[in-house]
Amino acid sequence: METLILAAGKGTRMKSKFPKVLHKVGGKPMLQYVIDAAKKAGSSREVVVIGSGSELVKEAISGVEFVMQEKQLGTGHAVLSAKKNFEQSEGTVLILCGDTPLLTAETLKKLMTVHESSNCVATVLTAEMPNAKGYGRVIRESDGTFKKIVEEKDATEAEKKIREVNAGVYCFDVKKLFDVLAKVKNNNAQGEYYLPDTLTILKAEGETIGAFIADYADETLGINSRIQLAAAERIFRMKKNHALMDAGVTIVDPNTTFIDMDVTVGRDTIIKPNTYLEGNTTIGTECTIGPDVRFTNMKVGNNVTAQFSYCHEAEICDGVILGPYVHIRPGTTIGADVKIGNFVEVKNSNIGKGSKLPHLQYIGDTDMGKNVNVGCGTVTCNYDGKNKFRTNIGDKAFIGCNTNLVAPVNVGDGAYIGAGSTITKDVPKDNLAIARARQTNIEGWKDKRK
Ligand code: UD1
Ligand code: CA
Repeated sequence: METLILAAGKGTRMKSKFPKVLHKVGGKPMLQYVIDAAKKAGSSREVVVIGSGSELVKEAISGVEFVMQEKQLGTGHAVLSAKKNFEQSEGTVLILCGDTPLLTAETLKKLMTVHESSNCVATVLTAEMPNAKGYGRVIRESDGTFKKIVEEKDATEAEKKIREVNAGVYCFDVKKLFDVLAKVKNNNAQGEYYLPDTLTILKAEGETIGAFIADYADETLGINSRIQLAAAERIFRMKKNHALMDAGVTIVDPNTTFIDMDVTVGRDTIIKPNTYLEGNTTIGTECTIGPDVRFTNMKVGNNVTAQFSYCHEAEICDGVILGPYVHIRPGTTIGADVKIGNFVEVKNSNIGKGSKLPHLQYIGDTDMGKNVNVGCGTVTCNYDGKNKFRTNIGDKAFIGCNTNLVAPVNVGDGAYIGAGSTITKDVPKDNLAIARARQTNIEGWKDKRK
């Protein structure tokens, strides 16, 4: 099975400077969903027609063949631009639009099966839409067979009342398709070459056309506007949440839980409200995530507790207690059983197993050993205005409150640092370092002042 995907349109109704098919649902471009569904349905080759913003589409999408439609003269014209790509092809080609992200492989397979077991030269997927506005309407003969598709802008008032719409998905005899495309005219309200007109022409030539109604209308939602994009996002989100709950994840409030397509969550993890799991985040088993957590491209182990925090491009190992109010930045690994929270920022650092960063720290470019205790207000001074330097802290070191560690600097295993120190020299193993002005008490000062 070979697939042709139409994705050259400008997407005028999106009012966007970016091509419509790159707008995201569940954190992934709409076009990617369509490609994935085709591949999953058994497609061996995907040709994508691009035009508007083609460079951006090529950058964002891989593993397909691209063909240019220089001017966007309609869906029929778009298919015609790919004529050369299908010269050697035989049998059935599947045609999809890049703006139907909710379409599933199951539905495509069903359509293929229906088409292959019929004597139709083409079969179009249709859907019963509660609100058919904007779609092409499917007109049937009195015996129920396919008659034609009328675009909304060309439809009579009576036709506009029809709820069965063209989903923009077709199985076509590839030879017949490219033959008949040459006969399509643009004498319609939009002055475009409509792909659905091929069906009317073929029918007039005595061919049989199939029209197969999709089981779930939601799947065929075509995204033309931002409002439809939000509708698709809502449906996607519920599907994703339901899939996770079916796999043993507790989602306390699915309405306020936002999980991207590629995210995985382990069994018996509990997700509390206002949580965002984005990109390729993976979460282990028996975690409690949320409320108010945003994880982007995170690798999270088992038994992690996290609340009120934002973490991105980093790893959190098993048993970590995180938050409230933690910002973990890229390149960080938080080791197992670390306790970290109450206004702490960590960047590009490795925090060893069992270490504690319980309040108000900034740790950047640091390699920290195991079971280190970091006092409140500790700051790594990792930047001199030009370059970044690293800080090393050994196992079981004790960093007193309000310490400044001026990098590059090494603190040995078991070393102690007195509170309020500004450490500019290495502290050897098991030493105590105090680097602050000595306290002076002036006896009888109050009386003398008088
Ligand atoms: C199209 C159908 C309509 C159907 C609906 C389903 C036509 C004429 N109309 O309408 O019957 O109900 O889809 O969602 O086919 N494209 C190109 N080149 C072009 C024009 C469009 O590649 O010159 C691509 C677009 O990028 C898009 C797809 O074709 O991915 C559909 O185009 P769009 O303008 O969204 O068509 P609709 O008006 O939604
Ligand atoms: Ca559309």
